[in-house]
Amino acid sequence: MELIERLERIERESRARLATLDDPAALEQWRLDVLGRKGHLAEAMKGLATLPASDRPMVGERANAAKLGLEAAFGSRLREASATARARELEGERIDVTLPGRAPTKGSLHPVTMIRREVEQAFARLGFTSVEGPEVEWDHYNFTLLNIPPDHPARDTQDSFYIQGGTGELGEMLLRTQTSPVQVRTMLAHQPPIRIIAPGRTYRNEATDASHEAMFTQVEGLCVDKGVTLADLRGTLTVVARALFGPQSEIRFRCGYFPFVEPGAEIDMTCHMCNGDGCRVCKRTGWIELGGAGMVHPKVLANAGIDPDVYSGWAFGCGLERFAMLRYGIEDIRLFYDNDIRFLRQFA
Ligand code: PHE
Repeated sequence: MELIERLERIERESRARLATLDDPAALEQWRLDVLGRKGHLAEAMKGLATLPASDRPMVGERANAAKLGLEAAFGSRLREASATARARELEGERIDVTLPGRAPTKGSLHPVTMIRREVEQAFARLGFTSVEGPEVEWDHYNFTLLNIPPDHPARDTQDSFYIQGGTGELGEMLLRTQTSPVQVRTMLAHQPPIRIIAPGRTYRNEATDASHEAMFTQVEGLCVDKGVTLADLRGTLTVVARALFGPQSEIRFRCGYFPFVEPGAEIDMTCHMCNGDGCRVCKRTGWIELGGAGMVHPKVLANAGIDPDVYSGWAFGCGLERFAMLRYGIEDIRLFYDNDIRFLRQFA
């Protein structure tokens, strides 16, 4: 019978074609072509109506069996194809657990941070608390209350970075040029006894060279109480210098001028490289300059609400990069903030 033959041919050819397919789009196309509403089977079944009524049940049954068979074949082909696809995917993602790992690069503290911590620890042992002040500061604290009058050259725009539009009751806003404003802020907030250090960033609008940077770090020290003298300052600095640079370190004062101290001094330490004999580091003098210091000016005490007839105090300010340069033998201050990983790694 013609229709039966046609059904058999459809079954045979469809199965053969199915066996060659494995991608999902092609399989779907096969399903539409063979089993779809306008597919080969449906088309063939239209011929059923032309058969004699007695033949229809048999042919109908045959057609139904063909349809079920093809549906089952399609289902199993689909499962096979997706299993193959999954296997291929897993093969592509295979992890070789025997490969050696990649070690994460370990960071380290910046040399200035290391020195800052050492300085803080040395002063903590002497009863000094470490405090911080703002880097964006008012003229009032950075200069005026520190006895630096409005026409003083230190205020010159050459030295200070002013903040545009930053004018208020306390004068102009600027990046602090020193950590000394933290002295004033501390005294305004606390009556003596005061023992603090104030490490932090400072900024000066200057040309840079091997020993000058526009941004650098200072550590301020302040001690205010009854009967405080320069001898206490020298003793304190000697203890700290010895903690940082070794037990042979000595401190000396030379006359120096800072508007907020009287008397004022430049602090020198014996050269830790040559022990005072003279070498390249200390330029053959045997001494290394550490910073400025002095007795807090009575006007500054009074400006900050502390009675200069009752209390006295000393203050100092040193550059932390300078300490780090001396300790680690660094010859150019600009290296600290170039962010050259080859430089920074040496401190790991
Ligand atoms: N603030 C001074 C400077 O930056 C240093 C200093 C601090 C001097 C405290 C005396 C007392 O140069």
